[in-house]
Amino acid sequence: MSKKFTVAICGGGVGGLVCAIVLSQYSDIQVDIYEAANQFSEIGAGIGMWPRTWKIMQALGLDHDLAEVAIVPPNGVPQVAFTFRKGDQAEGRNFYALNTPGGLISIHRAHFQSTLLRHLPSSCNAHTRKRLVSYTQPARRTRRSMAGAAALPKVTLYFQDGTTAFCDVLLGADGVKSNVRTSMMKEMASLARAQGDAAQAEVFMRAAPARWSGTSAYRAVIPAEKLRSLVPGHRVLTHPMIYFGKDTQITVYPIAHGTLINFAAFRARYDLENTTLDAPWVQDVPRDELLRDFHEWEPEVQALLQCVQTPSRWAVHTSAPLGAFTFGRVALVGDAAHAMMPYQGSGAGQAVEDAYVLATLLGHPSTSIATLPRALQIYDAVRRPFAQHVAKVSRDNGLLFTMNYPGLTLESPGEDVPRKLAELSSRIKKKWEWAWESSVDDDVERAVRMLEEAASRS
Ligand SMILES: Cc1cc2nc3c(=O)[nH]c(=O)nc-3n(C[C@H](O)[C@H](O)[C@H](O)COP(=O)(O)OP(=O)(O)OC[C@H]3O[C@@H](n4cnc5c(N)ncnc54)[C@H](O)[C@@H]3O)c2cc1C
Ligand SMILES: *[C@@H]1O[C@H](CO)[C@@H](O)[C@H](O)[C@H]1NC(C)=O
Repeated sequence: MSKKFTVAICGGGVGGLVCAIVLSQYSDIQVDIYEAANQFSEIGAGIGMWPRTWKIMQALGLDHDLAEVAIVPPNGVPQVAFTFRKGDQAEGRNFYALNTPGGLISIHRAHFQSTLLRHLPSSCNAHTRKRLVSYTQPARRTRRSMAGAAALPKVTLYFQDGTTAFCDVLLGADGVKSNVRTSMMKEMASLARAQGDAAQAEVFMRAAPARWSGTSAYRAVIPAEKLRSLVPGHRVLTHPMIYFGKDTQITVYPIAHGTLINFAAFRARYDLENTTLDAPWVQDVPRDELLRDFHEWEPEVQALLQCVQTPSRWAVHTSAPLGAFTFGRVALVGDAAHAMMPYQGSGAGQAVEDAYVLATLLGHPSTSIATLPRALQIYDAVRRPFAQHVAKVSRDNGLLFTMNYPGLTLESPGEDVPRKLAELSSRIKKKWEWAWESSVDDDVERAVRMLEEAASRS
């Protein structure tokens, strides 16, 4: 079948792979995926998924294979997704059960990745060792002056190895440090400068680099056997837990059918939020550092810490809220567009939504090479407010988990702690509900309607 246009995806993480899988369903779109690493691989430990994302996995036919490797509570049945417990004291205390329809779906990242790779159709050209440095695209005003679509100049990709490649649409799925984002912000800034708006140009340039959130995450995978031998019947062996503490927080849940435990312990310095970190972002650190940061915590948490061999410490980075996810025939997807705090377990899920909505728009019969920018603008209009809202509530949840939320800080002695913890819990649930109460279908429908209305006007 002849192709209506070619799509290059830069980055083969969750966002890039899902983009490739969904786009490959349209036989008139040629898909190339370029990954910087030697092979497609996922670092990190577990990944939590919510029903809103799971419904997309079902729509893509990935759910059966994922169910083989994930812990998937029955669809829609109320489950305790997480138990909340205050743990930064000699004796901890459970204070809330976060009950949600369908609970938390948990997967080992490596298993998620290999399932996605298995579903990558052979029609998609996958390239590894291709680190994109920058791109260029023809100036926007040439668009209307072009006689025919076939003559439309390509977007050019420049790789670190000195090679180049061409495409009609470039999707930047290259993560929080995105070079596509940097290139795009430079492009937007130079247009603003050319139009005499130096202040706006400055805003674009400031949004290019990732920012340190001030938060560090110690991540590890614990063999369940090890924890069981230390504390038989430890609640984390079967129950996802969120432990709350002052400026610290721990999220732990079983993965890989309960044979492994995903462990993430956070230490927040909100005074350093949005600063630049002049140190490696990911580093193996001695366990003593972890023990020191959590030395005041209760015994059941100490048992978890004892099971962590060598934690890796991640400096959690975010992207600034962007004024656009697209420019011309380039769009950003996933962390490149909206790297967020991990406190709603939703960064990857939002990348999946981006991919799903974007592919629906690009694959739609009314989208042609000539109308690509319009399809990308509708993607931006539908996805940007939503993803940026999720980023905001994820940040809020972090403030709530670490007792930093204004008015709910548990600082003054003699205050009504149970009342405040109850208030914290209900706020957290309210901010998080979108993940299990809503569906992406409404957004897809809205996007298609916008596209069809635009097509009928032109
Ligand atoms: C501690 C922690 C816990 C988290 N927990 C969850 C969770 O439970 N649930 C959830 O949904 N999300 C979670 N997230 C967020 C999630 O990990 C990210 O949102 C998700 O990985 C983003 O996917 P992505 O494909 O956009 O980017 P990435 O996964 O970062 O993938 C980017 C890919 O692009 C490649 N690349 C980078 N630069 C280039 C380049 N220049 N050229 C070519 N290729 C390039 C990289 O090698 C990589 O393969 C968590 C994050 C953290 C830090
Ligand atoms: C950091 O940026 C976020 C928006 O992404 C904002 O909500 C927050 O207030 C900023 N923090 C500081 C300390 O500037």
